[in-house]
Amino acid sequence: MAGGPRQLVDTFRREFNGEPHVYRAPGRVNLIGEHTDYNDGFVLPAALELATYAAASARPDRRLRVRSLLMDETLEFDLDEVDPKPRKDWSDYVRGVAVMLARAGHRLAGVDMMLWSDVPVGGGLSSSAALEVAVGYALLSESKLDVDLTALALTGQRAENEFVGMRCGIMDQFIACHGAAGHALLLDCRSLDWRLVPIDPKARLMICNSMVRHSHAAGEYNSRRHDCEEGVRLLSKALPGIKALRDVSIDQLERHAELLSPVVYRRCRHIVTENDRTVRAADALEAGDLALFGRLMAESHASMRDDFEITCSEIDVMVEIASRIPGVFGARMTGGGFGGCTISLVEASAVEGFKQGVANAYRDATGLDPTIFTCSPGAGVSTVRP
Ligand code: GLA
Repeated sequence: MAGGPRQLVDTFRREFNGEPHVYRAPGRVNLIGEHTDYNDGFVLPAALELATYAAASARPDRRLRVRSLLMDETLEFDLDEVDPKPRKDWSDYVRGVAVMLARAGHRLAGVDMMLWSDVPVGGGLSSSAALEVAVGYALLSESKLDVDLTALALTGQRAENEFVGMRCGIMDQFIACHGAAGHALLLDCRSLDWRLVPIDPKARLMICNSMVRHSHAAGEYNSRRHDCEEGVRLLSKALPGIKALRDVSIDQLERHAELLSPVVYRRCRHIVTENDRTVRAADALEAGDLALFGRLMAESHASMRDDFEITCSEIDVMVEIASRIPGVFGARMTGGGFGGCTISLVEASAVEGFKQGVANAYRDATGLDPTIFTCSPGAGVSTVRP
């Protein structure tokens, strides 16, 4: 749909007869550290310029009226309803956030809200966290309540875990809250300590959308999480103090591999090695060692493909194609898996050749036309003037 924040405001004025404030929360790309967040590990995402916008204004009653321009649907909820149930559609992300904010003790005002987004839905760029964070920020602001960004990220995750029913980790909501222009963010998902890591100006982050999204993605995500928990349960027989795979070293995993089924062992090996790669990759980026960063990306992809088994043939083809193009340091799938996007680290001067090379070879191999764009890391959630 055509649109943008300005059109969103025009439509709000026309249909809701009021003057809104506009709030924006970004999608994200993850440079490395996949499925490590719910294992108390490390991730290295960056916020995108693509974002979800919520135009909102407070109402005098206790109703939440929300219109999605993308879904072309308007729904109304009563903020005082006891024990609201999910509808199993897009509005669960909105309502779930309102419910979790109320459960955390916030007295929300009634709000009229209109939503628009240019984060592709199902593209693995976290359109859902962008929606949750934009909605949460808008609801708190319109209710004249203070916003604590880390608490907001946790509320978004809780809405997704407990209302939507997806057992995601904290990465997507956290970067939607704390992202900074020109930087990736290394997050310790246990302590929530983080540091910004500047993106080297000699390189570009290229995002390629494979244009496939396999329908079993959500079920497979929860089942991977279950495998990891099973790994912790079994390994704790030999390693009694461990709470998560974050606490297991590569040596310990090898030493106690016989406690695990072959599948659970491979799931654990992905997480344990991916944590190590993520911390090393952040250091490499800071030190300007782009070649090392690229090698770690390639290792991460192989580990997702062979051990965690969350890639698919189109994504593997796309990564292979990207990796062969001159000027590419490394490439990997990004996000939860089973389709979506790849991310490649590319020498700035090689970007045009990269775009053409990937588009042509991917089209030849799959018949699909990928969307390819340069990611300039943007800022986290804020109020904007359209
Ligand atoms: C999804 C989840 C995140 C994270 C990634 C995989 O995006 O929402 O919490 O687990 O998958 O790294």
